[in-house]
Amino acid sequence: MDKIVVKGGCKLSGEVNISSAKNSVLPIIAASILCGDKCCIRNAPMLEDVIVICNVLKSLNADVTINKEDSSIIIDTSKVITGEPNSDLVGKMRASFLIMGPMISRFGKFRISLPGGCNIGTRPIDLHLKGFKALGAKISVSQGHVEASTSKLVGNKIYLDFPSVGATENIMMAAVLAEGDTTIENAAAEPEIEDLASFLNSMGAMIKGAGTDTIKITGVKKLDGVSHTPIYDRIEAGTFMIAAAVTKSKIKINGILEEHMKPVIAKLTECGVSMEIQGKSIVVDGDRELKPVDIKTMPYPGFPTDMQAQMMALLCTVRGTSLITETIFENRFMHASELKRMGANIKIDGRSAVIEGVERLSGAEVKATDLRAGAALILAAMAAEGSTTICDIYHIDRGYVEIENKFRRLGVEINRISE
Ligand code: UD1
Repeated sequence: MDKIVVKGGCKLSGEVNISSAKNSVLPIIAASILCGDKCCIRNAPMLEDVIVICNVLKSLNADVTINKEDSSIIIDTSKVITGEPNSDLVGKMRASFLIMGPMISRFGKFRISLPGGCNIGTRPIDLHLKGFKALGAKISVSQGHVEASTSKLVGNKIYLDFPSVGATENIMMAAVLAEGDTTIENAAAEPEIEDLASFLNSMGAMIKGAGTDTIKITGVKKLDGVSHTPIYDRIEAGTFMIAAAVTKSKIKINGILEEHMKPVIAKLTECGVSMEIQGKSIVVDGDRELKPVDIKTMPYPGFPTDMQAQMMALLCTVRGTSLITETIFENRFMHASELKRMGANIKIDGRSAVIEGVERLSGAEVKATDLRAGAALILAAMAAEGSTTICDIYHIDRGYVEIENKFRRLGVEINRISE
């Protein structure tokens, strides 16, 4: 298993280019099932999770070509069949469940193994199923599988008890070919949902309000294959912004949309980091005395849970007391014990973490317990004294394109070692 070794105490300089958003590309690939035609995703991030969802589609007979040279993915779903996708593949990644909406919509029946819990929480699918039922699907759950059948889907009004990103996407995809109108209320408003809607609309769907808490969908009879370039990855961009702050460096990050970065920019500004937007780039200068801050993760446009671990790594190095409250996932503080191995002073009480900034972190052997936790450890390692070895980095590879190359080009002594 590969490990990443980071030598601490570095200064960053130069520019980094942000890749397309993993969390946009995964639902978009799932949505390509709906048209039964050929779609092309341009500038796709070549990530483990993206390869997994492509393999899930292949296991249903889709023809998928991943072209690493020009970062495009061509998906032809004309020969997709409504068999059961490979359960080992589905079990690898929760986002595989995003094919359920498109499959019910296109074939009227589908069976898939239940996505389990994961490191950061139990992550149920009740809201996805509530939506499918409201659209007229019969749902049964037994022996680790969920099965859906319907003669046709019919539009309805659906209120989500919580603005779940996945449920909003799955229901939106199920509703685009349903008969009549669907309204999703208390929908998630993440930018990736807007991106999915713009992909579907370019295929011929009629979706309004994506990116707000009320999404209205008028069902259409048919969708056509299209090409699409997904939005930039706001979480990758945020991770590099914190890299500048934690190393007290100045770097330029290319590939951001200011609107999408607002929650992270607001917190880093409060912390004392200086930032300047230059079109689709941001120059981040962390070379100043930073202040502790309190953070509560919230659905968009609140502070993203996917940036919580990286922010914790930064606050471990900021003198004073910071408080982080995690409201989205019930078990998303596993990085705290790894940061403590590096000398951090963090006390966890339920969903709250009290962080007392220390003078200096020190290098240690630590474990990436999940994707963003792994990124947080790289950030902490860059600020630490001595060398840090991070294992279980397959988690990091799920969501960051060439992370060590991008950091190396900014001046970090970072190496991947295979054992
Ligand atoms: C997506 C993102 C993930 C991000 C998360 C929250 C993708 C591929 N992943 O995950 O990176 O951390 O949004 O921004 O886009 N819930 C229920 N019932 C459901 C569905 C969800 O109770 O049917 C709960 C979950 O347990 C969790 C909360 O809702 O506590 C948020 O989950 P959700 O927004 O669905 O996250 P994902 O779509 O899985």
